[in-house]
This record gives sequence, structure tokens and C-alpha cells, in this order.
Amino acid sequence: MAIKLNNGFKMPIIGLGVWRMEKNDVKDVILNAIKIGYRYFDCAAYYQNEAEVGEALAEAFQTGLVKREDLFITTKLWNSEHGHVLESCKDSLKKLRLDYLDLYLVHLPLATKHTGVITFASVLDEDGVLDIDTTISLETTWHAVEDLVYAGLSRSIGISNYNIFQTRDCLAYSKVKPAVNQIEIHPYFQRDSLVKFCQKHGICVTAHTPLGGAATNTELFGTVCCLDDPIIKGVAEKHKKTAAQIALRWGIQRNTVVIPKSSKLDRLKENFQALDFELTEEDMEEIKSMDRKYRTIQTEKFWGIDVYG
Ligand SMILES: NC(=O)c1ccc[n+]([C@@H]2O[C@H](COP(=O)([O-])OP(=O)(O)OC[C@H]3O[C@@H](n4cnc5c(N)ncnc54)[C@H](OP(=O)(O)O)[C@@H]3O)[C@@H](O)[C@H]2O)c1
Repeated sequence: MAIKLNNGFKMPIIGLGVWRMEKNDVKDVILNAIKIGYRYFDCAAYYQNEAEVGEALAEAFQTGLVKREDLFITTKLWNSEHGHVLESCKDSLKKLRLDYLDLYLVHLPLATKHTGVITFASVLDEDGVLDIDTTISLETTWHAVEDLVYAGLSRSIGISNYNIFQTRDCLAYSKVKPAVNQIEIHPYFQRDSLVKFCQKHGICVTAHTPLGGAATNTELFGTVCCLDDPIIKGVAEKHKKTAAQIALRWGIQRNTVVIPKSSKLDRLKENFQALDFELTEEDMEEIKSMDRKYRTIQTEKFWGIDVYG
């Protein structure tokens, strides 16, 4: 299943996210995922495993497991690189061992001071607070990202973590329209207004963190996981599916692309099987009632400020 983007290219409706995937696991996970049927891999310069993804992709192409044109590869511009878009994209392409990307995203709607390194700590100032660069506008960044399309380095370009106002502005100043807005969405954080706004204006919505980050975000950020909710468990029991499959299927039936991360073979299969069944309108309504407007990636916990506030 795929969604047609506003420039005619098609994007698979389910992909595999590789954030927080251990470097040592990446190759096996990607090769197994391709065997299962995954065709979209969601990467980012910030995840610091593009080289390992590139190694896996090179092996997949060399062994004939899959052809380049059958994959959809996304990577993202990190905050500190807004003033260095071309170099950053070329660096990602080199690590991924690709000559073009399917989609290049502006990771977040803010630039931070350029430090020459991409690490967790490199975006913080001496007080441990996100060091936002006030000299680079999102419009300037976007025009540099548009140049990647003209240069043939990325087929599509998009935005990530943009709200309605930022997305509206991007539509206003863009010559190449954003094809995608990738935002946190799961049953506890449904973003109905932003999803409707983007879809109305031809922007495909991708749900990152579609399982609410499950155990990882609970451990790291102390967040509550939607997969443990009695409503989702009830729908899962009714369909003889898992809570994760219900959360993903709900996302798919809202016409949003879902990109769950797992390093485990059984879960890669389980998550991909979200394609194999359907929720009823009644199920969709029940899950709709779960919305708590609850973000699990709470930036004040690691950047010292709530960048969405
Ligand atoms: N644009 C952005 O700013 C942004 C932000 C966050 C994420 N993302 C993208 O979205 C992707 C997914 O987000 P995420 O990894 O934060 O969260 P997620 O996919 O919602 O959850 C991942 C967590 O769920 C576990 N998991 C996977 N399948 C499961 C299943 N069937 N049952 C129970 N637990 C399961 C994983 O553990 P195991 O690996 O142990 O299975 C991991 O702990 C990322 O990899 C990244 O590509 C983008």
C-alpha cells in the first residue's frame, strides 16, 4: 500500500524507523525488514547510523534482494545544519551509499548554532538549554532544501514537527511544495486538526512515534504508553491482534504513513501485518476517544525548553 505524494511519487504507507537502533543491529534488521516486505526506511543524520544503513542497503542491492528504485529512503537535516543544507545532504547520501534520496526532511522547525558535530549535546548552550540560532529563518532553510530537488539529490522534500502556522508559512513561501509533514502521532496524541490541515493542502502526513515510543519513551522520558490502554487492548482482543497492530492500523486508516521502530524480528513481522486487516468505523471512533493530546517527546526534559510551547 502506498500514498501518492503531491509531486506524483509514491510513498509506502508503512516504513521502518531507525532512531535509537543500535549500530550493530542495523544491518540484520534492515535486511530482515526487506525480506518481510518493508520498502521504506526512515533515517536521519541525527540518528548517527546512516553509515550502517548504507552498508545494509549496499548489500541488499548487491545480492539482488531488492532494487534501489523499489525502496523509499528518507533522511533529515539536523538543526545545526540549516546553514549547510547541501553539504549535509551530500554527507548523508555518502553514508547511505546512495546517489539520490526519495525524501529529505527538515527535522525540526528551528536552527541551532552550527558546531560542526552532530551529537545530542552539540545543540545545547552552556546552561544546557537548546541553543537556537535566531539568524536563520525557516524560509531560508527551505529554499536551500528546494535546491536539492533541482540538483537531483532528492526526489521529494518535506518538513517535520511543523505546526499549522509553520506549515502554512512553508506553503506560502515554497516554490517546491512540501510533500510530507512528519509529526508525532499515536492514539494518545492524534493531532486531528494538523492532520486535516495537511491533508487538505496535499501534504502527506507521516506519523512518527506511532506506538507512542512504547517502552523506550517510558524508560527515557517517563511517559505513559498508549499500548497499555484498555480501549486499544479491547479492540485488539476483538480482532485477535496486538495493541501495536491496532495502533498502526488506526494510523493507516487515517491515511497517515506509519514508521514504527523495532530491532526485533518478531515485532518487525507483527508491525508489518498491520497491513493485513481492517478496523471498523466503530473501532476507529473508539480509538478516537483515546486522544489525550499527550506528546511523548517532551523537549523540556532534554533541551531545557518546550520548543512546541
Ligand atoms: N521526525 C522526528 O522528529 C522523529 C521523532 C521521533 C521518531 N521519529 C521516527 O519515527 C520512528 C519511530 O519512532 P520511535 O522509535 O521513537 O517510537 P515507536 O516506533 O512508537 O516505538 C518504538 C518502541 O516500540 C517498541 N516496539 C516496536 N514494535 C513493538 C511492538 N509490536 N510491541 C511492543 N513494542 C514495540 C520498540 O522496541 P524494540 O526495538 O525493542 O522492538 C521501541 O521501544 C523513529 O525510528 C524515527 O524514524 C522521527
